[in-house]
Amino acid sequence: MTESNRVQWVYSSRNNRELAERYDQWAKDYETNLKKDFQYRGPQVTAGYIEKYISKEAKILDAGAGTGLMGEILNGMGYKDLTAMDLSQGMLDEAGKKGAYRELHQMVMGETLDFAADSFDAVVSVGVLTVGHAPASSFDELIRITRPEGYIIFTLRPDVYHKSGFKEKQAALESMGIWKLVEVSEKFQTLPKGEPEVFHQVWVYRVTS
Ligand SMILES: C[S@@+](CC[C@H](N)C(=O)[O-])C[C@H]1O[C@@H](n2cnc3c(N)ncnc32)[C@H](O)[C@@H]1O
Repeated sequence: MTESNRVQWVYSSRNNRELAERYDQWAKDYETNLKKDFQYRGPQVTAGYIEKYISKEAKILDAGAGTGLMGEILNGMGYKDLTAMDLSQGMLDEAGKKGAYRELHQMVMGETLDFAADSFDAVVSVGVLTVGHAPASSFDELIRITRPEGYIIFTLRPDVYHKSGFKEKQAALESMGIWKLVEVSEKFQTLPKGEPEVFHQVWVYRVTS
């Protein structure tokens, strides 16, 4: 399978179980593939927004942490209170090897999360909120586990934002006064080598209640 096909292969999963199995199988090669074949830069770009808004002492959840690329970068920047959560135990096992996270948890975004309310100062989610992965309804639980005035920072494809219920969900949460948009980035190529036609934006929200 070519690496481009492998990306499509995880996206074509029919349910969370199949998605987890496919990421489990991909886990050992995921980083090499994404770095070498795609020049993946989602975590690097997102790190700039985390540094802008989140203090180094913050307790941060990396939701859909995968193999821990985001945690590795944040740890290097001085963020030490990091928790990883992911659907795939295989991906989490790879993340654990980095030593960047204090805790690792296998959980599913879109379902009830096994964290108490207001557990985190911030949640970051890179490359996870998208078609066939975590749905827009995931925000309800991410907001519940983030303390008031905490931040939720995530990447999203503009086409997914417009066509897959994210636009409506994000607006509904804002009109209900549950969170407030702080900033949305310009569009950037997240996989400039392998999929130059794919763009993402970084969204920054502040939880209000
Ligand atoms: C494209 S990878 C991104 C991983 C990491 N954030 C990064 O930037 O390298 C997507 C990750 O999201 C996880 N994932 C997909 N759907 C999920 C869900 N509903 N809940 C939790 N994790 C999920 C996958 O297992 C995979 O590790």
